[in-house]
Amino acid sequence: MNNSPGKGKPLYSMFNRIPGRYDRMNRLLTLSFDERWRKEGAGLCLQDRPERVLDLCTGTGDLALRLARMSEKGTEVHALDFSENMLDLARMKAAKKHVLEKITFHHEDASAMSFPDDYFNSIGIAFAFRNLTFRNPLTGRALKEIYRVLQPGGRFVIMESSRPDSKFMNILFRIYMNIMVKHLGGMISGHKTAYNYLAYSAIHFHTNREIQDMLAGAGFSMIRSDPKLMGAAAVHIAVK
Ligand SMILES: C[S@@+](CC[C@H](N)C(=O)[O-])C[C@H]1O[C@@H](n2cnc3c(N)ncnc32)[C@H](O)[C@@H]1O
Repeated sequence: MNNSPGKGKPLYSMFNRIPGRYDRMNRLLTLSFDERWRKEGAGLCLQDRPERVLDLCTGTGDLALRLARMSEKGTEVHALDFSENMLDLARMKAAKKHVLEKITFHHEDASAMSFPDDYFNSIGIAFAFRNLTFRNPLTGRALKEIYRVLQPGGRFVIMESSRPDSKFMNILFRIYMNIMVKHLGGMISGHKTAYNYLAYSAIHFHTNREIQDMLAGAGFSMIRSDPKLMGAAAVHIAVK
């Protein structure tokens, strides 16, 4: 598609190529912990009974599907991604789970969203905050956009891998990323470059403290981070 909003943007062509085995690889590489954290994140997004909630960088739609299943009847669930191939898969999954009519899909770039100011009551992002903020020249624009489209008092919930604080856990984390994610993930998926990037960006990603500072710099307050699996992942919550 020539007029894709992601075309030319950092990481677009990589993500547009990998959807086929993406879900299976996620479950395998995280031993399904990713699903547990998405469920927790969805609960946090829905805590104040939002009328309108966004799954930002939805990928194959796992968080959006959870939001659709867990929310009340009138809740509008929106899901956004710049990869048309990811969105196609997300739509197919939503149809299979009978929640297609509850989710509105948007083929857009997170750093230039078409929504009006203060549009969403809450926003969730699962395992994609790293893509928006790790050595990405558009980080500032994406954070500004997220803040803009969230209503005052609304919650931004991030589920993401994180760098463990303890030296020992950090060593294990690096070994896991280098052996399991980079080599095994690359081999099984057939997408070596993508899994190389996933491992590298996880190992060198910001610390929780740096993420909190970044969110505060973008205007968010009441920021807290809840570490998971001895610091290998975290759920961050910030309020506009
Ligand atoms: C690692 S996947 C995570 C997908 C999903 N949220 C999940 O829980 O599995 C990252 C997703 O973010 C999307 N993405 C990355 N940068 C983006 C941007 N600037 N705008 C919109 N989508 C983006 C990619 O296309 C990809 O589908």
